[in-house]
Amino acid sequence: TDIFLPVRENSKGWDLKAAEHLREIDDARSPFRHTSFEAGPLIAGETRPDAASERRNPSDPSDMVGTTRFASKADVDTALEAARPWAASPQERAQILKRAAKLFEENFGEIFAVLCREAGKTLPDALAELREAVDFLNYYAEEATRLTSEPLGRFVCISPWNFPLAIFTGQIAAGLAAGNAVLAKPAEQTPVIAHLGTRLLHEAGVPKDALQLLPGAGEVGAALTSDPRIDGVAFTGSTDTARKIKKAMAENCHPGAPLIAETGGLNAMIVDSSALPEQAIRDIIQSAFQSAGQRCSACRCVYVQEDIAKSFIAMLKGAMDAFRPADPWAIHSDSGPLIDAEAHGQISDYIAKAKAEGRLLHQIEAPDLGYFLAPALIKVDSISDMEREVFGPVLHFATFKAKDIDKVVDAINGRGYGLTFGLHTRIDDRVQQVTERIHAGNLYVNRNQIGAIVASQPFGGEGLSGTGPKAGGPFYVQRFQKPVTPKYRP
Ligand code: NAD
Ligand code: ALA
Repeated sequence: TDIFLPVRENSKGWDLKAAEHLREIDDARSPFRHTSFEAGPLIAGETRPDAASERRNPSDPSDMVGTTRFASKADVDTALEAARPWAASPQERAQILKRAAKLFEENFGEIFAVLCREAGKTLPDALAELREAVDFLNYYAEEATRLTSEPLGRFVCISPWNFPLAIFTGQIAAGLAAGNAVLAKPAEQTPVIAHLGTRLLHEAGVPKDALQLLPGAGEVGAALTSDPRIDGVAFTGSTDTARKIKKAMAENCHPGAPLIAETGGLNAMIVDSSALPEQAIRDIIQSAFQSAGQRCSACRCVYVQEDIAKSFIAMLKGAMDAFRPADPWAIHSDSGPLIDAEAHGQISDYIAKAKAEGRLLHQIEAPDLGYFLAPALIKVDSISDMEREVFGPVLHFATFKAKDIDKVVDAINGRGYGLTFGLHTRIDDRVQQVTERIHAGNLYVNRNQIGAIVASQPFGGEGLSGTGPKAGGPFYVQRFQKPVTPKYRP
């Protein structure tokens, strides 16, 4: 018998250090530099959408990325009535999802342009996001052929703006691989990329009544998740919204309808005095500031052992000074802007308060463009002092004594989240001591703590960070089908 899993590979992407690849990318994305896109509902029936809303580039609000029309209550009703589980065989579904993956890859120029202009993604971030979307499509397509149960029915997929293609596509691909009818509600900040992804999925052969797009704000998500006709919800976003959805489902939906929620985090990293400081600092900078800190996985609080703290902080400030936020269309931008004016206002106020309290240790420059925010380093005594998840380029810095490392782990666990955790140490026993006790879905030792890879690093948290099963893992798609109850055999 074959004891090995089938050989599969993730997408290869481009080499962003090779001039010919950069030229190829630039030629492909340039035609979409100034396009203004239309992105309304895509439903299997007549749409009567709400008023139009403009999408503008967060790096340069004078750049009009497109116009969206939010789905109305009538559209939600039409879509729910029209929704039909995908009747094709698992093999056919897999073939069509793989065709969609190819179309995503072929349309990389338009995808990169939209990700940059609508979501502020740098080229490396846009490339990583496209590859993750392609990997989800291919991986879940293969999972489809291994499933043993039946689709649940109508599945609602609600996604956030920070991975507006990868997470949006991953949820949908899982729902479709399992044979459901999917009703997708993208984040209100990023309807244009969602519209493009949905069109490519339809072009690949996904029937229009098996995949419908309902753009809009939280109200559209609330209308969908409180409708008794739905059979399950996949949600990625904040913990607060997950709570609201859970309540709405408990009050309105049948008890068998699952909620798969991937939510926020208060992610920490511990660096002890045996760590290699240069490596730890590079990994902290990436984990805290890449993507302007707008990753659920991002490092929010670093604990550095007291004995090395003074020199470490000097090196960390130096590394921050070398970090260059810049217009994300530029090839060498290290990070783009915050997503919108609201995020910019809230996080600027947060940093200003820390500064007034004498806790701002360092802040670097950011371009005076759009919603750029200068990355900041803030002193805290403990992760317990942090008010909340600050979803931007803000790193909190604490120190600890070697004898207190268990107390640090307790403080991290005490916040109730459990998404990512990082550890830098060269002491093997310490790896065991800490990782055995920490509550986190994804643990990273002597590396950065962002950028999980589909299939090889399934991603998801515990506690306030999510319900599981992990996205990009072997148990995910099953959850979009009816549970298989083993037969009792006496
Ligand atoms: P959010 O919760 O505000 O919005 C997420 C989605 O939910 C959006 O599409 C929004 O329109 C919708 N929504 C809002 N209110 C709703 C309601 N009452 N009913 C149904 N849907 C509703 O989150 P956000 O600001 O878009 O994203 C940032 C958050 O997402 C952060 O907390 C981050 O940590 C988390 N996140 C988690 C993961 C993960 O994998 N764990 C990944 C990315 C982002
Ligand atoms: N999967 C994303 C990461 O690991 C959120 O950074």
